[in-house]
Amino acid sequence: MSVWILNGLVWNEEAGTLVKQHVRTEGGNIAEIVDGSQQPDTAGSEVIDAAGKLVSAGFIDMHVHLRDPGFEYKEDIATGTRSAAAGGFTTIACMPNTRPVTDTAETVKYILDKAANEGIVRVLPYAAITKNELGRELTDFAALKEAGAIGFTDDGVGVQNAQMMKNAMALAKSLDMPVIAHCEDDSLVEGAWASEGNFAKKHGLKGIPNESEAIHVGRDALLAEATGVHYHVCHVSTEQSVRLIRLAKSIGVSITAEVCPHHLVLSDEDIPGLDDANWKMNPPLRTPRDVQAVIEGLEDGTIDIVVTDHAPHSAEEKARGPQLAPFGIVGFETAFPLLYTKFVRTGQWTLGFLLKRMTSDPARVFNLPTGRLEVGAPADLTIVDLENEREVRPETFASKSNNTPFGGWKLYGWPTATVVNGKLVWTKA
Ligand code: DOR
Ligand code: ZN
Repeated sequence: MSVWILNGLVWNEEAGTLVKQHVRTEGGNIAEIVDGSQQPDTAGSEVIDAAGKLVSAGFIDMHVHLRDPGFEYKEDIATGTRSAAAGGFTTIACMPNTRPVTDTAETVKYILDKAANEGIVRVLPYAAITKNELGRELTDFAALKEAGAIGFTDDGVGVQNAQMMKNAMALAKSLDMPVIAHCEDDSLVEGAWASEGNFAKKHGLKGIPNESEAIHVGRDALLAEATGVHYHVCHVSTEQSVRLIRLAKSIGVSITAEVCPHHLVLSDEDIPGLDDANWKMNPPLRTPRDVQAVIEGLEDGTIDIVVTDHAPHSAEEKARGPQLAPFGIVGFETAFPLLYTKFVRTGQWTLGFLLKRMTSDPARVFNLPTGRLEVGAPADLTIVDLENEREVRPETFASKSNNTPFGGWKLYGWPTATVVNGKLVWTKA
């Protein structure tokens, strides 16, 4: 099956601008990219009209929670992949804090099978570092790799014991697999939900200090140096973490890192009050100074990629209020519009920079075949309307959950169609 995507705007890095081109896919790959002044013969092909819209390599999100198995009331693989597609994502990597925890080959296979049958984007499963994510005993890395896991992480919690982390890294290295870490020292957090900043001060709350994250980053950078493993830092949120990653990179440690849109556009000082648990996530929103540091980290390449940490929770759970509700916000359906509106439309970043951090950079960091709009590459494509402003309406999300602090925000950069492996899997209604 051949598909022509006509008259779209493709980012041209040399020219530093969008250029009108036609893209043809064939058998799941990109077959041709031709100049927009040509009139391609589309007889016998499916045609998608992308006039005036951005055509990009599909977005890649290396940190998401699909909640399947076990928490299907929050999300499942069918709805989670639809939400991803609605956000322009064509490849997503799902975290193992499911129920059961993704710590056996059987659960990895369950996710891959269900994604193949019910998913509409590519799903790459991570497996847990420790059994049940309890930090006590390593999982069977070889069996998990064999089953299709792409890396090891106890995301949701930090691995508290340094020797456990070192053993995990040595084993992962021997299998040529990455370790992906949620960096959090529990002894420094104890019951707090907001960061140690002006919001916590104003409301008399115990705060989460920046060191709770950065201590693990520093420890793990040393362990990564010692073991040689590819070590990837999850959702970087503090100035201190950025500084440590920059130092580790400068001395050749195999370290990469990610940041979430909410940590780039919100600080603790934006939290409206104590009523709304949609401002509670882990890591928490940090101080404006930290926000500035993670932006600079992403800009200078210290932080390699953008991820959403899409973390759906039910309305009932979030209604318990910030102290009792679980941490996390949904992210797929607002990620690109938020960053495009806040950083590209304002002229701070080029569109090419944002696209790189959401496509070819994640592909580079995790050795994926996708993420490039080139002849011969897999035909994973995202089509985006860059011109029309629209309000974020959480009740319209394709996700089962709508726990977001961005409801009502007016944004540009809404995906209108998503193509995976040459197949149109989602279009805006
Ligand atoms: O906010 C978060 N939500 N951070 C995490 O680390 C876990 C995630 C979840 O699973 O809900
Ligand atoms: Zn996490």
